[in-house]
Formats: sequence, structure tokens, C-alpha cells
Amino acid sequence: MSNNILDGKRIAGEIHEEIARIVATRKTEGKKIPHLAAVLVGDDGASQTYVNGKIKACKKVGYEYTLLNFPASISEEKLLAQVDRLNEDPDIDGLIVQLPLPEHISSTKVTEHISPQKDVDGFTNLNYGRITSKHPGLMPATPYGIVELLKRYDVMLKGAHCVMVGNSRTVGAPMSAILSYQENATVTTCHIYTKDLASFTRQADVLIVATGKPGLITGDMVKDGVIVVDVGITRIPTDANERGYYLKGDVEFEEVSKKARLITPVPGGVGPMTIASLLLNTLKATRLRAG
Ligand code: GUN
Repeated sequence: MSNNILDGKRIAGEIHEEIARIVATRKTEGKKIPHLAAVLVGDDGASQTYVNGKIKACKKVGYEYTLLNFPASISEEKLLAQVDRLNEDPDIDGLIVQLPLPEHISSTKVTEHISPQKDVDGFTNLNYGRITSKHPGLMPATPYGIVELLKRYDVMLKGAHCVMVGNSRTVGAPMSAILSYQENATVTTCHIYTKDLASFTRQADVLIVATGKPGLITGDMVKDGVIVVDVGITRIPTDANERGYYLKGDVEFEEVSKKARLITPVPGGVGPMTIASLLLNTLKATRLRAG
């Protein structure tokens, strides 16, 4: 692997090892073993892959886990009742509902129904608001993972000009807030209404892209020495029936990596770090609830 890779897979592996050691110690001390519950609605292939990855990571570090899979036809009311049940279950420490949900179910309503103490995705309004606190709660998992990855590569965020392309609720918006409030970076947030995107991306010391538009960022849009984090992960079909596919990020990797000091690959960059932060959040939630 070339030496400018921000290797999320390797760093996530290190975090898994650190957590596995903590879990083993907790076991010998008779303390509560973290327990993650994941709710999957429907049979979307990408969502199944993501949830399976999360469960596999739980197994690897020694967490307990529960996977609940409901048909796409489940009513909003029934799903909310399931969330209530998991909120009240004293053995469950962390709870995630994989998004997206079917159209007849409000993801905002379901997400907001998760107890903030168990909200290890960091999606609830309370945890979101606490980003701007000296004592943040459970941080949104993907932005938290990105900050952790950059820190473990000794990237100086304080005073750096970070350009965030994308302002989604799950990644872009909380990422901008964390970089500004928690890391004291200078932050520019760009989105689909930004005029002359390249004039902003060219100023970036650290460029983070989460738009879901494969190949949006090309080599001419970045400066030499930039640090690039690509959150995009689009399945590009390799045959007409979409049975085969490859994964492409929002960044044209070949051209941008020639100019970048550091850059995340897709896959193997941000994805594993999101799972690692989910595990870190689950440990934190367990400690807050059970010591
Ligand atoms: N869908 C895409 N990314 C995520 C994530 O990080 N958490 C959940 N719950 N759903 C997602």
C-alpha cells in the first residue's frame, strides 16, 4: 500500500484490539459486558452488509449482541414499540436502527425514540446538541470515527482549514460542528447549493467529502499536500442485472491521491472507522449505565 494512505481498516483493527482487552478485563472483574442491539428493517442488500459488519465486530471484541430483522411491511407503530422494548431492556447498552427505513416509516421519529443513553449512533437531538458541549454525550459515529482516524495519524486539526462537502444530518452537519467546537478547526461547509465548489475545495488543508456523488472531487479541485477523507461509498454495477458491483467513493482516487499527503481508500477508509466508533460508543454507554 502506498505511504499516503489513511488506513481506516488498520486503525479500526487496533481499536478492536484495545476494546477486546478492556472487555476481557471487565469479564475478570465481573463487570457488565457491553451488549449492542441492531434493528434491521427490510432486505436492502447494502443495509444487510453494514449490519452484518457491525455484528461481526461485536463478536470479534467479545460484546454481546442482538440482531432483530423485521419485514419491510412492519408498521411504524410496531417498530416504535420494539424500540421502546429495547430501551427498557436493562441488558441492552447500545441500540441502533439501520437507516434508511421504508418510506412509510419516519426515520426521524424512530431515531428520536431511541433512548439518548443507548443511542450509540449519536443520531438523537440530545446527543447531536451535546456536540457543542464541553462534555459531549455519544458522538455521531461516522464523524467521531473520522476525527479518531485523523488524530491517530497525528493530523493537526486545530487552526486547520477543514472543508466539509455535504451537510447531511448523519455526517456533514455533525462533522462540521465537531471540527469547529471540539477541535477548533476553521470550517467551511459546502453542499449542493454551493456555487463554484472547486474554489472552496482548493483552499482545504483537510477535505472531507460525503455527498454520495461518485467521483465528484477531481485532481484539479485540490491543492498539493491536502488531506482527504472520502465518506462516499456508491455501488457501481458491473453487469446489467446489478448482480456484480464495485464500490466507488466521492473522490477520484487515482488523480487526487497524486496530490494528497494523506487520503482514505474506498473501501477500507471511513467504513471500518464508523464501526470502531460504534463499538467505542457502546463501551461508553455501558460504563455510563453500569459502571
Ligand atoms: N445507514 C448508513 N449509515 C448508517 C449508520 O451509521 N447508522 C445507521 N443506523 N444507519 C446507517
